[in-house]
Amino acid sequence: MSMAKCVYLNGKLVAWEDAHLGIYDHGFLYGDGVFEGIRAYDGSIFRLTDHVRRLYRSALALAIGIPMDPEAFRAAIIETVRANELRSGYIRVSVSRGTGLGLDPEHIDKTPTIVISTEQLRLYPESMYENGLDVITASTRVPPAVCIDPQIKSLGRYINNILAKMEANRVGAGEALMLNMAGNVAEATGDNLFLVRSGKLITPPTSEGALVGITRDAVIALAEKMGLSVIERAVTLYDCYTSDEAFLTGTAAEVIPMVRLDNRTIGDGKPGPITHDIIAAFRRCTASEGEPAFDA
Ligand SMILES: Cc1ncc(COP(=O)(O)O)c(C=O)c1O
Repeated sequence: MSMAKCVYLNGKLVAWEDAHLGIYDHGFLYGDGVFEGIRAYDGSIFRLTDHVRRLYRSALALAIGIPMDPEAFRAAIIETVRANELRSGYIRVSVSRGTGLGLDPEHIDKTPTIVISTEQLRLYPESMYENGLDVITASTRVPPAVCIDPQIKSLGRYINNILAKMEANRVGAGEALMLNMAGNVAEATGDNLFLVRSGKLITPPTSEGALVGITRDAVIALAEKMGLSVIERAVTLYDCYTSDEAFLTGTAAEVIPMVRLDNRTIGDGKPGPITHDIIAAFRRCTASEGEPAFDA
């Protein structure tokens, strides 16, 4: 059950109970679709334009033709948020290629299924932001960027992330880091990774298997404004274990410290000063920079 009253489904707002998809939807059959997770803070939608741009780029890369322009899509998201009176919470946007059995797109109805829904967020408890997360390295790898491009936020890519999250759950860890085929760290299951080393930030580039996270982008911009240099380079587990500080970034988790990894303590085992500054700056940013969804 959901708290939301209605769902945007293929151009219409329908009651939650009436929002149904066909059993041959290609998103369901093959993970053949793209999505976004977006957040509203106190009546404003954070980085809405960036999320819609990434959605359209993901769709373009998979040759899924979204039958409305980005401006109309933005309006549909805002309309759904208003209809559900979602002042703060999560917005899930899903687009699949169409409907029909068989993987050949020539033999399906290529009208994309478009769903926009809203939810309350299941957040990490505030104590985890204060004390930091205990993280493990998953044995499940991210697919090589040359096979499944991590820049495409596709539905199908997430099977490995789900398996990695289950590995974290099995040992009671808050998150799991995922390695690429070279054994470098790509990202966490639903978050990007940052290390702090000698006052500089380091984060894996997308060529290492990381999604180009919108929170990641926001943090890079904030860090640069704070005078910190940010280096995009391959990151090994050694780099993580021996970093001064580490944190994860994502729409749902925001900026969350990582203080233990695979039974090693990172830094002094507490969220470090730069992590604290980034968290504070990010919270100011989400509180002030969103796109108002409601009339003032
Ligand atoms: C695999 C993966 N990496 C990173 C992120 C963080 O990206 P963003 O900051 O755009 O939410 C997400 C979440 O959306 C994700 O699913």
